[in-house]
Amino acid sequence: MTKLIYTAEEIEAEHDYTSLHIESGLKLHGGFDDQGQYISPRTRHRWDAVKAWRESLVRRHQPLVEATTELLTEENFPNVSQQIHLLKHGIEQSFWDSLTITGLIESRGKALAEVEAPDFQNIIAEDISETALGHMSKGLLRTHGWDEGGVPGSGIGGHDVMWYAVRDLIFGKGKYPIPEAPASIGREKNEREMLHLPPEYEMLIALLMNLLMIEVRAERAFDFYEKVMRSEEVFLDRRREAEEAVTLVNRIRQDEAVHVAWLQVAISEFRSFTIKSLDGSTISGAEILDPIWEKMIHWHAVEIHTTTRHASIEALKQKILEIENGAQIFGQFESLAA
Ligand SMILES: [Fe+2]
Ligand SMILES: [Fe+2]
Repeated sequence: MTKLIYTAEEIEAEHDYTSLHIESGLKLHGGFDDQGQYISPRTRHRWDAVKAWRESLVRRHQPLVEATTELLTEENFPNVSQQIHLLKHGIEQSFWDSLTITGLIESRGKALAEVEAPDFQNIIAEDISETALGHMSKGLLRTHGWDEGGVPGSGIGGHDVMWYAVRDLIFGKGKYPIPEAPASIGREKNEREMLHLPPEYEMLIALLMNLLMIEVRAERAFDFYEKVMRSEEVFLDRRREAEEAVTLVNRIRQDEAVHVAWLQVAISEFRSFTIKSLDGSTISGAEILDPIWEKMIHWHAVEIHTTTRHASIEALKQKILEIENGAQIFGQFESLAA
């Protein structure tokens, strides 16, 4: 029998590492096995659990919601060639800002460790004790938050510290001032959208969907950062550090995979269940969730990009025009857009 019920202690348990994860003098989460392979933090049982819940869903012939970068139909701004072009011409601050803001947003993610999820068993007709949905408060949200922003007071860095380390490897410390991160990076609605659910359940389901799309966008960002930093045309005097930075980015990427996996399973489980509606009737989870999931994908894949792009281009244009040959460099930058 596959194990499908875990304690919070099991979900949070660490591997026995052969060596700890230390980079640029910083203590970081996770560790290494005796082969020197990086192991993500708190995954002694977490991966097995998520895979078991996923298999159980598949056994019930229930589909998984799509959660790949294929959903992201709008190009990243700037694209890889544009970013390399900027760095080659000494326009570095936007790249510094983007790495710093990524770290600041990861740091905010530690709030997930404190989220009190309502008990979904109260609104679901089927037994959820053997599902990801049934384990949100048994370690899934807490480990997720700790991975992003570290365990408070532990002195061990999570993803926030790892991104700052990436940035400092390629730029050196304190090269530019710390920028301000956007107030929100998720789709937020003031009015209710899932009227069958009590508000606290709607809030949580919307949070899971936003998180999953943010993780999907992060996956594309990893690819972007890796391609830029791997380019032999940039950070010419810090190629060794840039390679180390890419290694760190890929460790973060490895850690994120379990986030994508559990969120995808939990959302798909919700779709598959019978929900006890506030009006006393029952309704399928898919009927509640699918229209909102469509809107969520569209917001993260398209709206956020089209609404911010003009301002981003204008801000960058101003910076570029300040330097010698700025007009020409900006013209080339524009011609590199797909
Ligand atoms: Fe993260
Ligand atoms: Fe994550």
